[in-house]
Amino acid sequence: MVDVILGLQWGDEGKGKIVDYFAPNYDVIARFQGGANAGHTLYVNGQKVVLHQIPSGIFHEDKINLIGNGVVLDAVTLKKECEKVASMGIDYKKNLYISERAHLILPTHRALDKASELAKGNEKIGSTLKGIGPAYMDKTGRNGLRVGDLLDKGFISQYIKIRLKHQRLLDSYNFQEDISAWEDEFFESIELLRDFKIVNGEYFINDKIQQGKKVLAEGAQGSMLDVDFGTFPFVTSSSTISAGVCTGLGIAPQKIKDVYGVSKAYCTRVGSGPFPTELNDETGELIRKIGSEFGATTGRPRRCGWIDLVALNFACMINGVTKIIMTKTDILDTLPELNVCTAYNINGEEKNYVPFQMTQVKLDPVLKSFAGWQTDITAMSEYESLPQNMKNYIDYINKFLKVPVKFISNGPGRDQIILA
Ligand code: GDP
Ligand code: IMO
Ligand code: MG
Repeated sequence: MVDVILGLQWGDEGKGKIVDYFAPNYDVIARFQGGANAGHTLYVNGQKVVLHQIPSGIFHEDKINLIGNGVVLDAVTLKKECEKVASMGIDYKKNLYISERAHLILPTHRALDKASELAKGNEKIGSTLKGIGPAYMDKTGRNGLRVGDLLDKGFISQYIKIRLKHQRLLDSYNFQEDISAWEDEFFESIELLRDFKIVNGEYFINDKIQQGKKVLAEGAQGSMLDVDFGTFPFVTSSSTISAGVCTGLGIAPQKIKDVYGVSKAYCTRVGSGPFPTELNDETGELIRKIGSEFGATTGRPRRCGWIDLVALNFACMINGVTKIIMTKTDILDTLPELNVCTAYNINGEEKNYVPFQMTQVKLDPVLKSFAGWQTDITAMSEYESLPQNMKNYIDYINKFLKVPVKFISNGPGRDQIILA
């Protein structure tokens, strides 16, 4: 049996905290897509940790953590992260497994990401510059190197071939930066990979399922950044939705039971691209300040806005969300008034769907206002004790989406979560 935890918005919904909270109920925690563009924040014994490559179940002893085939692996980041978790007393070598089919992010992928973004100028995606796009391009273009290739004697000659190809591309961008330091780090880091449990991920995970073990698939990014269904071209390069669990781990769709969709009580986006409910005013500024909305991977300020029920409805549909987990509700504690977006006004007409593209049309959010609860909820642990105005807000969202909000997160701590 497999359950999924994934983001319903533009990433950073709080997936890391939620996976860490749910992990004790599962045997295997598996990342199925994305790479070091992800930044999943956890608080372990009060200490903040940001994970980019390692699944967020790593701090639970005896839980297997798998980096699936759908992930693009940054060995340099992985090495640093392993050192970090080891310093916190975790024997990562015991419980961390890597699929041999996961593609490697090469130093030239990072350079190509940077060169491509520079060339785009004002139209840049706002990529995290971790090499994600170029690595997935090489995967679908059938060029890339996979973790399993490391064990092959021909690895270096394959690497040199791809590097040459990339160099020609970099030359066409007139990219001049010296990447030899990145290469040194890369070769040092892939040595560490050889010591890992490199497995055939699809047999590995299906054997576990066969034995009755419970698997939790951990998504990165969010549904609105999905390569097919997100706000293209301002998206990431992987399938961030529940369908990505099947291709990213080798799991059949019937094996998936619950799809937990994580959404903030408001909305954020980092990087460029459409964001219908964005607040370019003091309220947006206030939410950024109270919510510490700065990227966990790049430190960039996150754009903030009201919760967007049109986009959430769409995300629930394409993912088959069974339960919603609403995070960062406490960030709205002091606001006198809240808004939710119930429709898009596109060229003067009200629409309740996400359009093909949002950049060439005039799109305004239709907002419904709610009175804020203006109560500190961070120490509350029972649904009954939550302020009525908050219940009204959540009830409305429940009814609109026709999917229940089952968990309410009211702080970054592991224990700050309320069952609705
Ligand atoms: P992820 O990428 O989805 O794992 O989310 P990030 O870690 O990038 O960003 C979420 C941020 O919000 C982190 O700093 C979390 O510690 C924090 N966080 C998660 N849930 C809550 C919550 O309910 N309340 C507050 N105040 N912070 C939260
Ligand atoms: P987590 O897992 C928020 C955004 C980038 C950029 C776009 C493409 O922490 O939620 P990429 O580097 O993938 O080519 O960037 O996607 N992005 C994220 N935004 N959270 C993330 O991950 C993100 N991963 C990528 O900012 O707009
Ligand atoms: Mg994040």
